[in-house]
Amino acid sequence: MKTVLVIGAGSRGRRYSEIGTAIGDAFKIIAVAEPIDARRNYMRDKFGIPEDMCHLSWEDFLSRPKFADIAIIATMDRDHIAPALAAIEKGYDLILEKPMGATPEECCMIARAAAEKGVFVQVCHVLRFTPFFCALKSLILDGKIGRIVHIQHAECVGNVHQSHSFVRGNWGNSDRATPMIVQKTCHDMDIMQWLVGKNCTRVHSFGSLTYFKEENAPEGAPERCTDGCPHADTCYYNAVRLYTKDLRNSSFIQAVVSDDNRTDEDILEALRTTNYGKCVFRCDNNVVDHQTVNLEFEDGITASFTMCAFNKGSRNIRIMGTDGELIANMGDQFITLYDFATQKFEKINISDVAVNETIDGGHGGGDAGIMNAVSNYLNNSKSTVSLCSIEETCRNHLIAYAAEESRLTGKVVDMAEYEERLGGII
Ligand SMILES: NC(=O)c1ccc[n+]([C@@H]2O[C@H](COP(=O)([O-])OP(=O)(O)OC[C@H]3O[C@@H](n4cnc5c(N)ncnc54)[C@H](O)[C@@H]3O)[C@@H](O)[C@H]2O)c1
Repeated sequence: MKTVLVIGAGSRGRRYSEIGTAIGDAFKIIAVAEPIDARRNYMRDKFGIPEDMCHLSWEDFLSRPKFADIAIIATMDRDHIAPALAAIEKGYDLILEKPMGATPEECCMIARAAAEKGVFVQVCHVLRFTPFFCALKSLILDGKIGRIVHIQHAECVGNVHQSHSFVRGNWGNSDRATPMIVQKTCHDMDIMQWLVGKNCTRVHSFGSLTYFKEENAPEGAPERCTDGCPHADTCYYNAVRLYTKDLRNSSFIQAVVSDDNRTDEDILEALRTTNYGKCVFRCDNNVVDHQTVNLEFEDGITASFTMCAFNKGSRNIRIMGTDGELIANMGDQFITLYDFATQKFEKINISDVAVNETIDGGHGGGDAGIMNAVSNYLNNSKSTVSLCSIEETCRNHLIAYAAEESRLTGKVVDMAEYEERLGGII
């Protein structure tokens, strides 16, 4: 069993704690740092943490000698670097939320510090741990499509998800969080590199914020949806309808109101006073609502990636190889294999493909998958194909940062030069 200090008990910190402690004797939560009373108290009560091990911030814990095996760092994007470096210095193994750093320099600093200290750091690229992507990786490793030549991959964010997280929510403004290609799709950069199994050599990107801005506000729309908007009945983003009805039982509601304050009046009060009640065309968001990235990998392998807000949501992928093609949508239980030899399509049930991870839980099973994999590694010295070294994780974050640089400059970024500019990774 590994003892755990949780830093940041918001949506993610709480989720990993709940999932981790549900795996037999794998993890015991013994301390929490969280400034919001309701969240800290929830952790105290749920995991039986003594009051003197519940603190408002991480500094108190990380200035003492190491007292737990693992630190889970699930603070916001810009608050990863300081606790991560302090925890590494004390010798903690880390479960660190993505993005690992809020700049490419921060990512390299964390990777170097972890390598020097020799601690284990698993960044929460949870897609690697989903049965869906594990199945694709297995089929590729089994040689079902020969050598990969090209990947076509799309992250369909979903229009409502975009409005909640990337317009009104925590990640709408890159000055407070990180650019959307880093925040939302460092997962996808990681997945493409992992599936290809070779390093990315060049990236090129286009994208912008086109829709969720003031000039698109319908006539007469007030600042807030609670102010009597004349478009309330037809607007897809009417916050009153979304948060009192459509999203009321979804995980999104946690960001708006706490568990014990969830009456209609509590929600309406939050909509009158927080960003979640603001008109989607009148927020301070600046992140893109669509972006494309072209990637080149070693051996001339290419990938084209699209992230876009204007869809129902989900990820789909086509992986094209010298012996066949894999076609898959993350919402489905099946992957389609087209085999050049037989000229036939085969529907492969994901649960029939040998995978290490569980299908339960959020992010398509990835949240449970990562906690299981970390437990197996740290408690039983068993590795899986999904675990990622800190060097590789850092390199994959740099693809996303380089894509953002390309989007802003219009230039192709050579990854070797980019890494060199940053002084190398390790
Ligand atoms: N892996 C994934 O798929 C995934 C999904 C969603 C979010 N994330 C990442 O997880 C991180 C957290 O996201 P979230 O949705 O849980 O956000 P959140 O706002 O719900 O949680 C962050 C928590 O950190 C707390 N905090 C702030 N300062 C602190 C301090 N000094 N010491 C301790 N705690 C402090 C906040 O009070 C808050 O409760 C973000 O970086 C986000 O990008 C990852």
